[in-house]
Amino acid sequence: MAPEKTDFLVIANRLPVDRRIGDDGEVSWRTSPGGLVTALEPVMKLQGGAWIGWHGAADEDLPEFEHDGLRLVPVPLTELEVEEYYEGFSNGTLWPLYHDVVVTPEYHREWWDAYVTVNRRFAEKAASLAAQGAVVWVQDYQLQLVPQMLRELRPDLLIGFFLHIPFPPTELFQQLPWRRQILEGLLGADLVGFQMPGGAQNFARLVRQRVGHRTVRDTVFLPDGRKVLARAYPISIDARGFEQLSRTPEVIARAQEIRDSLGNPRHVLIGIDRLDYTKGLPQRLRAFGELVRDGVIDVDEAVFVQVATPSRERVHQYRLLRDDINRLVGRINGDMGRIGQQPIQYLHASFPREEMAAMYRAADVMVVTPLRDGMNLVAKEYIATRWDDRGALVLSEFAGAAGELRQAFQVNPHDINGMKQALLEAMQAPPVDLRKRMRALRKQVMENDIERWATTFLAELAEARDTGPADGDD
Ligand code: F6P
Repeated sequence: MAPEKTDFLVIANRLPVDRRIGDDGEVSWRTSPGGLVTALEPVMKLQGGAWIGWHGAADEDLPEFEHDGLRLVPVPLTELEVEEYYEGFSNGTLWPLYHDVVVTPEYHREWWDAYVTVNRRFAEKAASLAAQGAVVWVQDYQLQLVPQMLRELRPDLLIGFFLHIPFPPTELFQQLPWRRQILEGLLGADLVGFQMPGGAQNFARLVRQRVGHRTVRDTVFLPDGRKVLARAYPISIDARGFEQLSRTPEVIARAQEIRDSLGNPRHVLIGIDRLDYTKGLPQRLRAFGELVRDGVIDVDEAVFVQVATPSRERVHQYRLLRDDINRLVGRINGDMGRIGQQPIQYLHASFPREEMAAMYRAADVMVVTPLRDGMNLVAKEYIATRWDDRGALVLSEFAGAAGELRQAFQVNPHDINGMKQALLEAMQAPPVDLRKRMRALRKQVMENDIERWATTFLAELAEARDTGPADGDD
């Protein structure tokens, strides 16, 4: 029987759940890592429709299935495609290139070929499932060729694209041997969304310079009469849902338990990140370690809990980072710890939402110091759980979230002395100052939640259809 067609489709590299096979051969499903899933899961629960994505394991072709009320359609990847498309071109080329080349991107022609092949597979799957005139929303850097491929297959569709990571400055993007193909891939969409206005501007400039299309402000005019919009939509979280979770008696009790097991220090600082070289983990741990070494912070008074969620573990740069962090934490704890009291509690593990909420509630200071980040939803989650207006956020100015979260203690993560200063300020600020900051941060996050983000994007996408083909006028 042919699969049922749908009026609304999301296409992302990953499904919201990953398929795990235990040592005993038992199959289970686990929430996939990362901000994209955090943001889109509630959107799909509201919208309905189907979600096309990879289910996290190689060499398995699974039929579509339902999970937690969502219709999920797996796209298979071979072991070699996982290596070349996912670990290679997506995470060894595009990821570092789009994050200010904080590590050196690698350019390999076979990785590019795999990227094209897999993008086509996603486009074909979407083309076969979309009803006439359906809305298709393509997500993130792994699938930048899909809009154009899909448009060729199905010109009747309304196609949106959203990039969850930064879109790089033009000087960096130009390094990419396949820069023109990527730009043309994105131009298959009716609306291309970015986290920040700067990303949309970089894109429009590159389209002018490299593809030669005319652009006026946020509109690209194509020779065939089509128009493409490039705009910013800062992504968010299900703020109310997260707050509610953090108010449950179980989470409140667990937060107290966490503080108790840390020895009830005066200050609990916390960092929760995917273990990624863009997140600035070594910098923040070094800053905290130096404060302890300098005697400014007493190990009996403050603990730094760093959770690092395992991520992309077969990619070389991620392995190097893991070793670096292990060494750094070992050195700081070895040099500065006492029996029963270690300055850094390091957990290399992923946790369910309930436990994350309890950790946020247990923390006096949340430390988010990426060297570059599209948005950073962990910072917003922390704020959503601070319904008593207590707590402080230390936030890198290089996270997209810094544009909205102005009342955080903002830092340059490359400036270790500046970070030491900001950590101290956040720990020592008078409660009235902290409350004032947190109230403003909460207003921002609670008002601009994921529902508003999705509604705005989809409404502007619908308007793109209403406008019809362009006549070329400004
Ligand atoms: O938001 C950025 C992002 O790369 C998502 O596209 C991705 O799903 C998430 O982070 C986690 O990364 P990965 O899917 O490679 O584990």
